Amino acid sequence: MNHQGPAERSVILGTGSALPARRVTNAELAETVDTSDEWITERTGIKARYIAAPEETTGTLAIGAARAALAAADLKGADIDLIVLATATPDHTFPATATKVQAAIGMTGGMAFDVAAVCSGFLYALSVADSMLRTGMARKALVIGAETFSRILDWEDRGTCVLFGDGAGAVVLGLETSEADDSAPRGILTTELHADGRHHDLLYVDGGPSTTGTVGKVRMKGREVFRHAVVNLAEVMEQVLHRVGMTSADVDWVVPHQANARILDATARKLNLSPEKVVVTVDQHANTSAASVPLALDTAVRDGRIKRGDLLVLEAMGGGLTWGAAVVRY
Ligand code: UT7
Repeated sequence: MNHQGPAERSVILGTGSALPARRVTNAELAETVDTSDEWITERTGIKARYIAAPEETTGTLAIGAARAALAAADLKGADIDLIVLATATPDHTFPATATKVQAAIGMTGGMAFDVAAVCSGFLYALSVADSMLRTGMARKALVIGAETFSRILDWEDRGTCVLFGDGAGAVVLGLETSEADDSAPRGILTTELHADGRHHDLLYVDGGPSTTGTVGKVRMKGREVFRHAVVNLAEVMEQVLHRVGMTSADVDWVVPHQANARILDATARKLNLSPEKVVVTVDQHANTSAASVPLALDTAVRDGRIKRGDLLVLEAMGGGLTWGAAVVRY
């Protein structure tokens, strides 16, 4: 998409997030898992994660994040005509968790559906919603990433169970037309998505309705995923920046998928980006899959780091493999 001149773009009108009540530190985990605060901190940068109680579900967290984003945008549920919710841990096999959010926020028309791209889910959902807004299918969208990965972790597998947490993040998107002479228009300037299904076995869940009939648990070859992540994320970030005629020097904030602090450092180095420009929340939230980008975005908006007019690059990679990035002027 052309990033200059008059055009209708999807702008972020508000952000919100929600976390379970219970925060679990590494030390607390080490009481039941064969691990240590030292190992987790050194290898991942994670210090704590939030774990959902039985009554806290992907749906309830998504509803919390959606309400916060609507309040920030000064809008009501009835103003929204599209919900795209990214999750790999829906409340039910069907209907889509997005329809639960729809009912809860008092939205009775429009469209609501889920998108499954695991940790890249929010980038996929954002791109789908952006396309639907710009083609006139909807006027205002809620884009949500929400997960309860704690429900699909194998708590006997220390290589995965220490890495993930639960949570939700949301943004409200609306269309805005920029003036012809606006050299720095707001909104989503470009998005880019990728998938390579040959790498299924690097990161997957060993269950599902059509295979085992069970929900299954997360299985990951961490080291290999790590290697793909650094290469793919640096490449896709370069791709989106190049498309809008910018370089890493133009970026105010990278809002990355929060999988591992070492991935964030390595990717920033590859792009010659100062680590001060990278929003890091993995220390407090761990990897919340599809929720991690909007959760990090909302955290940095609310603590004042991200300001209106800032140029953001959002990026993520996850199971599939899938990956993607977006350039957004907030
Ligand atoms: O969101 C989707 C994308 N996911 C990711 O991006 C995850 C990418 N991968 C990673 O973040 C890292 O590969 C991990 C954090 C998963 C693992 O770090 P690593 O440096 O690649 O460690 P490793 O898996 O090679 O394991 C090193 C050692 C092993 O011991 P030996 O075989 O060297 O004796 C593991 O058994 O660390 C051991 N280990 C642990 N020790 C204590 C693995 N997990 C733990 C643990 N506590 N929780």
